[in-house]
Amino acid sequence: MHFLHVVGARPNFMKVAPLMRALAARPGVRQTLVHTGQHYDQNMSDVFFRELDIPEPDVNLAVGSGTHAEQTSQIMQRFEPVVVEQKPDWVLVYGDVNSTIAAALVCAKLQIPVGHVEAGLRSFDRTMPEEINRLLTDQLADLLFTPSADGDRNLLREGVPRERIHFVGNIMIDTLVRLLPKAAATLPAELPEQYALVTLHRPSNVDELSDLKRLLDALTGIGTTLPIIFPVHPRTRQKIVELGFSHSETLRLWEPQSYLRFLALQQKATVVITDSGGIQEETTFLGVPCLTLRDTTERPVTVTVGTNVIIGRDLNLLGRAVKAVLNGEKKNSTVPPLWDGGAAERIAQILEATG
Ligand code: UD1
Repeated sequence: MHFLHVVGARPNFMKVAPLMRALAARPGVRQTLVHTGQHYDQNMSDVFFRELDIPEPDVNLAVGSGTHAEQTSQIMQRFEPVVVEQKPDWVLVYGDVNSTIAAALVCAKLQIPVGHVEAGLRSFDRTMPEEINRLLTDQLADLLFTPSADGDRNLLREGVPRERIHFVGNIMIDTLVRLLPKAAATLPAELPEQYALVTLHRPSNVDELSDLKRLLDALTGIGTTLPIIFPVHPRTRQKIVELGFSHSETLRLWEPQSYLRFLALQQKATVVITDSGGIQEETTFLGVPCLTLRDTTERPVTVTVGTNVIIGRDLNLLGRAVKAVLNGEKKNSTVPPLWDGGAAERIAQILEATG
């Protein structure tokens, strides 16, 4: 059987790696890897391929950045001839980025079966570009692999036939489980005993300069009691430069970190403050408190059973939540079902059975 995987942005890479490994272990399987080039910086892409042992992409569409319509349409135009030539049995798409919906839409029109890894997640907030990508990809996919039971419920409510839906667990956790033992060795030497690890890149937090300034001021305030380590996404970096905001000992602005180093930084952190999706899940698995600077989450299980607390945009609430963590107030948390390192194997078995 021939499987063609499509990835493009940083959060896709930790999801494709375990499935390629699981499929490679099976006889008679051929795999093709297409990188759309949505993320292209060395520290947003190449380093992940190296650390996660992902093979060199067979094809790089090199689309780069642009508006949503530009990026999505460029991926579609460049991907179509590739998939027509390759004639795979299955195309696998990951997560909720523009590369995911672009590839799924091309395949649906060509009647090439699509499997969506990390299906069914919903924030119910259509101002998020990712929510549009999730809704549409799940309508188009032939097999939908969900990380948590809420995903199954969302899909059934949207009319997706039950036989297409498979609750397989969280594939990103497969990568975490495999690489956690290697992570600690990559920790930087000059690390404070206690620190908050921060990531911010959602348009809703960083695109408006006044909102970003308020956030950075709040973080600077928190930094006086708990040093802040903030690896800055390129999108956020541009805005911070526009603001003329400068680095300080209490608010350390770092370059984006590699997978292993970021994992080690999460594990050692006193608290993580983020607007990412995947980091809400990784902190839940690691048992590290997570404060999410968004009004909603598409990963509710991280709140109901995990370590995540939704803070929204209330920066006073953020300050109080950090204090509570420093006072030793910890949520009772567990790891959600099937976040066990075996998701890729379960997906590979289901795909194999379609042959
Ligand atoms: C994308 C995903 C988001 C995911 C995030 C993880 C969509 C709609 N969004 O957001 O869901 O959480 O990736 O990082 O697909 N840039 C660089 N170098 C790069 C990549 C981007 O400088 O390698 C800069 C460019 O100025 C670009 C901006 O970052 O315009 C945004 O990149 P883009 O891929 O459009 O979206 P992300 O914010 O990265």
